[in-house]
Amino acid sequence: MMAPAAGELGVHLRVLVEAPGSSAAQVVTDAPVGAAADEAAIRDLITPSDGRAPADVLTFEHEHVPNDLLTDLIEHGTPVRPAPHALVQAQDKIVMRRRLTELGAPCPRWAPLPLDPEQGRATLAAFLDEVGGQAVVKTSRGGYDGKGVRVVSSADDATDWLVAAAAGGPQLLVEEKVPFTRELAVLVARRPSGEVRTWPVVESIQRDGVCAEVVAPAPDLSDDEARRARQVAVEIAEGLDVTGVLAVEMFELLDGSADGPPVRRVLVNELAMRPHNSGHWTIDGSVTSQFEQHLRAVLDLPLGDTAPTAPWTVMANVLGSSLPALTDALPEVLGAFPDARVNLYGKDVRPGRKLAHVNVSGQDLGEVRRRALGAAALLRGEPLPTDPTTDETKA
Ligand SMILES: Nc1ncnc2c1ncn2[C@@H]1O[C@H](COP(=O)(O)OP(=O)(O)O)[C@@H](O)[C@H]1O
Ligand SMILES: [Mg+2]
Repeated sequence: MMAPAAGELGVHLRVLVEAPGSSAAQVVTDAPVGAAADEAAIRDLITPSDGRAPADVLTFEHEHVPNDLLTDLIEHGTPVRPAPHALVQAQDKIVMRRRLTELGAPCPRWAPLPLDPEQGRATLAAFLDEVGGQAVVKTSRGGYDGKGVRVVSSADDATDWLVAAAAGGPQLLVEEKVPFTRELAVLVARRPSGEVRTWPVVESIQRDGVCAEVVAPAPDLSDDEARRARQVAVEIAEGLDVTGVLAVEMFELLDGSADGPPVRRVLVNELAMRPHNSGHWTIDGSVTSQFEQHLRAVLDLPLGDTAPTAPWTVMANVLGSSLPALTDALPEVLGAFPDARVNLYGKDVRPGRKLAHVNVSGQDLGEVRRRALGAAALLRGEPLPTDPTTDETKA
């Protein structure tokens, strides 16, 4: 998704892809194959042995990269953005919680669980007592799309994970189960020279632990509440010395107030240090997309305007499909929704897999959502729902 912006700005992308024909290789011609943890492949990506020009900067579209190698690359003169000292905050939830707590960012109550299973059980049991019975245990590393997150109400519920952690698996942490009203996200971009920009706060609607829909801007936030949430993201980007795009996932809480309406505040859930699903709406709904902004930021170019181009943009993910290929649905989708911006990822269809997204922008939020969710339903091979906004909202 970075390729169109790179083409416009005359930036040559060379992408390390996991397999020939994978999504990125379908749109980027310079796409050597190799694993993200393969040192030789990464070195050859930066300084190709066949004499092609060396890279000016190395960046990422996921966090599963070896930090020792990145540190070594920096020492040998290749800019790596974000740098490993920042990236580790998006790789390890214990490191992140510790640092965010130091920075004073609003976080749920949390604790690391000791590696020894008996001590781990005792810490978890004491934490459950303290927070009132329910908590969320997480693996510090390797989780995504809700894998690596488990709601527990007793230490027994985490026995298998405690045993796995003691046997060399990822370490665990526990967080209070936040009674959030909804999930928000703030996308921020920062360049090495320090310039920083945020996009409007969005609401991200998850189904089964996976982002299904994003509404930009998040409805019903006051200007003050939105400004505070954006400020939290800026302080994190600056405090962690992030370069590139950072997505800050947040929980929204409602605090009762004696007089007047309840006050919304946010707690930080987790960080993604790259263009993120919560920012796909910017491709069509913002003056500058997160992908172009990431390129500008890591190349230390002036950042683009983040203003929305319409009152509302809704992004609907296509998670799995009953169609053999999503392109089969194009005649119907494009016919029914000429204003929908359809983005297919060129992946093989598998149950639940993120295969595509649709952006729709406009004046009326109900109508915009109806059209985005309708187009996504057709791409999943489902009939057009009569009112897709009522049957599957915050499931
Ligand atoms: N402390 C918490 N309280 C309540 N719900 C949580 C908490 N932490 C995570 N969740 C829920 O689980 C989802 C996935 O957790 P997250 O830490 O974002 O992991 P992942 O890396 O899988 O995205 C969140 O989007 C949220 O819905
Ligand atoms: Mg998450």
